[in-house]
Amino acid sequence: MIQESKEVDWTFLNENTREFTHIYHDYPARMIPQIPRNIIKLLEEKDGSILFDPYCGSGSSLVEGLMAGLNVIGTDINPLAKLISEAKTEYGIDPNALNNEIDRFVEFTMIPKGKPKLIVKENLEFWFKPNVIKSIGLILRYISKIKDPKIRKFFEVTASETIRESSNTRKSEFKLYRYNEGKLKTHNPDAFAIMKEKLFRNFKGYEAYHKKMTELKYKPSSKIYLANTVNQIPRNILREDSVDIVITSPPYGDSHTTVAYGQYSKLSSEWLGILRSNVDSVSMGGKKSEPIIFGCDELDESIREVDEINHKRSLEVYSFYSDLRNSINNVSSIIKKDGYACYVVANRKVAGVLLPTDKSIVCFFESNGFKHFETFTRGIPNKRMPSKNSPSNKVGKLDDTMTKEYIILMKKD
Ligand SMILES: C[S@@+](CC[C@H](N)C(=O)[O-])C[C@H]1O[C@@H](n2cnc3c(N)ncnc32)[C@H](O)[C@@H]1O
Repeated sequence: MIQESKEVDWTFLNENTREFTHIYHDYPARMIPQIPRNIIKLLEEKDGSILFDPYCGSGSSLVEGLMAGLNVIGTDINPLAKLISEAKTEYGIDPNALNNEIDRFVEFTMIPKGKPKLIVKENLEFWFKPNVIKSIGLILRYISKIKDPKIRKFFEVTASETIRESSNTRKSEFKLYRYNEGKLKTHNPDAFAIMKEKLFRNFKGYEAYHKKMTELKYKPSSKIYLANTVNQIPRNILREDSVDIVITSPPYGDSHTTVAYGQYSKLSSEWLGILRSNVDSVSMGGKKSEPIIFGCDELDESIREVDEINHKRSLEVYSFYSDLRNSINNVSSIIKKDGYACYVVANRKVAGVLLPTDKSIVCFFESNGFKHFETFTRGIPNKRMPSKNSPSNKVGKLDDTMTKEYIILMKKD
């Protein structure tokens, strides 16, 4: 099996990462679907096995799990992540019914009528042009009247990207930064046109996904919860020793200095009525902590170096790894004997010091009775990551330390 895995080119250069429902919605630091697809294949997971993703984000590993006949469960602290994952994993919509609803929407956009659904937001006109506010309000009013909840969710996810794209925030950043006055003068997005184009695009993705799912003999299930895996994994979500495989990509660091998932999600979450204002502060590493000895030599040594250069940054680093360790303790307990955990991470630098997240994950799992099975290294050809130590969250800037990704496989003994 490991021999076979050596033959996989984990870079997946030139492969389509937006097939099926993976096309629905962008998300910061998305996992490319080829990773879970190949891990599931290599480990020969069987129909009906349980796959869990504790930081499911936009649900990439959940969609892949379902297409391989696995029952999937995902958790995240971000309500927008839950919405995207629920929409992307849904395979029970009749494509004809969806197509008819899209046709009806297109007809509606010809002479859009009705009372726009508005939101109370102090600086709404700072983030959206007046005509965009009206169009989004009309789109959301239309969506609220769709009777089938599954089709409504498909439209909501499509509207979420439409809202982001027609807002005044720079699309090249994950954080909220408004276009400058010069750019704003020529920025006149047509929210209806954007929504239609995305509906057609997402429909094609759904059709391919639905076809694939109807071909499966075993019809797998999917459930997504809002939960903070650092605190606990509630027993009503997963029992101890119940999961066959975890495939996940945790945040790379705290949301202040790496990816701000809360800021990325804010505008559309407000419009959709699912805003949770503290996503970034409850995200891993969001709170400062006291110095800790982790008992993982490389990690302890690196944090000591950061501390010598910048004490304040070292406290952020302690906090992040402490949360990562707590989460891994919780995740370890719900995996079955002989089950696997697959974590996809990149190592980042803080104060010029390289932090060994890959080795730390191995160390944290080993202290929970897991054995290190294999680590695959992949070059990241085009993953959009925040730039080095920058709170700016610039899309597309590659930190030189972030151009390698580690796919760490641990097995429960
Ligand atoms: C790298 S992203 C996951 C991306 C995902 N694999 C995908 O393909 O879209 C990390 C996710 O972890 C979530 N997260 C951060 N802290 C968390 C916590 N304590 N518990 C659960 N999820 C958390 C973030 O909201 C974010 O969606």
